[in-house]
Amino acid sequence: MYTSAPTDTPRKTAWTVPMLADAKRDGRPLVMLTCYDAGFARTMDAVGIDLVLIGDSLGMVVQGHNSTLPVRVDDIAYHTACVARGLSKALLIADLPFQSDATPERALDAATALLQAGAAMVKLEGAGHKLEVIRFLVEREIPVCAHLGLTPQSVLRLGGYKVQGRDEAAAARLREDARAVQDAGASLLVLECVPNPVAAAITADLAIPTVGIGAGVQCDGQVLVLHDLLGVNSGHRRPKFVKDFLAEGGSIEGAFRAYADAVRERRFPDEAHSYAG
Ligand code: KIV
Repeated sequence: MYTSAPTDTPRKTAWTVPMLADAKRDGRPLVMLTCYDAGFARTMDAVGIDLVLIGDSLGMVVQGHNSTLPVRVDDIAYHTACVARGLSKALLIADLPFQSDATPERALDAATALLQAGAAMVKLEGAGHKLEVIRFLVEREIPVCAHLGLTPQSVLRLGGYKVQGRDEAAAARLREDARAVQDAGASLLVLECVPNPVAAAITADLAIPTVGIGAGVQCDGQVLVLHDLLGVNSGHRRPKFVKDFLAEGGSIEGAFRAYADAVRERRFPDEAHSYAG
């Protein structure tokens, strides 16, 4: 079905899935970046980036599409295998692309391919019927990262890439969904484009760590898309939460270090790079 050559699983990594909960308990902020090839992966590993995501954002920043919807499981598996060859320490997370998680059985096939390509965890968007998918994968020994708030695979329904959870009812629904994905077995939760107070409340509610992108400094960690962090023009509007760390760091390695330091010292995101309410 999916065709990527298998990689050793688990890879010999310093980071393991149970360590995510330890980091939250110890108050250690998680530093996460997206990555798509071995060269950048090697540099991220050398700098001590904790979590590396093969995001379906690759559809936009690598393949040049105007959404993530055209991305296929084989695309993610290919880039996962490339990144896995460059990493020895970071935890590797791979996205389940559009509709590959529409049913538990489809998700199991896709997630198996991604773990065999070198991932240690898969990420999927949404709650609702995805709760059954999360439970199904976790019962079958596949660690899951959930993703709530702005879920880019919902762009057609949402009518664009917009901040989510702005009014009271929407914020309450997000908090319920966050508890539900944790109860279904997710080990990590990405919160995208959520007002700071809502993300802070969700982070306080949960035992699993939250990783924010446009969700404020009170999340347990932060993630950015590699191309955004380096100021690469990928042909799309730059959201408010994006910061060009290359300008500050002076080199690619310097940019990764500047980002990691800013996250660990809870200086990023500042008010200029988040949504107050
Ligand atoms: O696809 C992706 O890169 C992501 C991040 C923005 C979290 O989901």
